Amino acid sequence: MWRGTEEGAFQAYEVPRLESQTVLDAVTYIQRMLDPTLAYRFACRVGVCGSCAMTVNGRARWTCRTHIDKVTDAEGRVEIAPLRNLPVVRDLVTDMAPFFDKWARARGRFVGTATRADDFARVRPDSPARRLADAAIECIGCGVCYSGCDVVTWNPDYLGPAALNRAWTLVNDERDVDNRARLAAVSGDAGCHACHTHLTCTERCPKRLSPTASIAGLKRAAARAALRGELGE
Ligand code: SF4
Ligand code: SF4
Ligand code: FES
Repeated sequence: MWRGTEEGAFQAYEVPRLESQTVLDAVTYIQRMLDPTLAYRFACRVGVCGSCAMTVNGRARWTCRTHIDKVTDAEGRVEIAPLRNLPVVRDLVTDMAPFFDKWARARGRFVGTATRADDFARVRPDSPARRLADAAIECIGCGVCYSGCDVVTWNPDYLGPAALNRAWTLVNDERDVDNRARLAAVSGDAGCHACHTHLTCTERCPKRLSPTASIAGLKRAAARAALRGELGE
C-alpha cells in the first residue's frame, strides 16, 4: 500500500481474510488495527458517495464495491495506491479540487429560469433529450474515469470525461438556458475535441456510464453550434 505524498513508498501489511471482504474493508482494517496514521477516504460504503476510489493493481476502482478475492494474485497480494492524475495529499487521499474545478469550467451547473411561483416542469420520460440526459445522470463523481484517462495525463488542462459527461446531461436538459456558453466552454483546446476516444473511461466507470458517448454527443452539438455561429471566436 502506498504511504507518503507524491514522494513515498509501498509498504506491506498483513490483513486477515474474511468472507465477502472488500478492498475498503482491508484498508479499514489496516487503519484501525495496524496503523492509525493511514489516511484514506470513504463515506457510504455502498457505492453511492464516490469517495472511496483508489488505484488497485494499477487500475482505478471503487473500493467499497470491489471484493478483495477478485483482485488478489496467487499469493493473496494486492497493491493499493491513490488515484492517478490528481495530486496526492497523503497515502490514499488525493486532492479532488482540480477534478471538480473542471466541472465548474465545463459549466456543469444547472441554470434555469423558473421561480417558486412556477409549476413543476414536465419533461416526458420518453422524449429523446430526456433519455440522453438520463443515460449520463447517475455519475457519483468518483474520479475513476478521470484517473484512467491518458489524455488527462498528457494534457492536465483537459476537462476530462466526468466534467464533459456532466455538461452533456445539461445540454440535454430542456429546462436549462446556459447551453450557448456551455458549448463554448467545452469546445476549446482542452474540451471535448481533445478526447481520443480511447474508451478507458467507459470501460472503467463503476456506474456503467459512457462518458465516451457523452463526449461524442458534445462534439456533434458543438459542431452544430459552431455552424450556427454561436460559439464566438
Ligand atoms: S474516451 Fe476520451 S475521455 Fe474517455 S478515457 Fe478516452 S480520451 Fe479520456
Ligand atoms: S462518469 Fe463514472 S467513473 Fe466517471 S466520475 Fe462519474 S461515476 Fe465515476
Ligand atoms: S464509500 Fe461511497 S462509493 Fe465507496
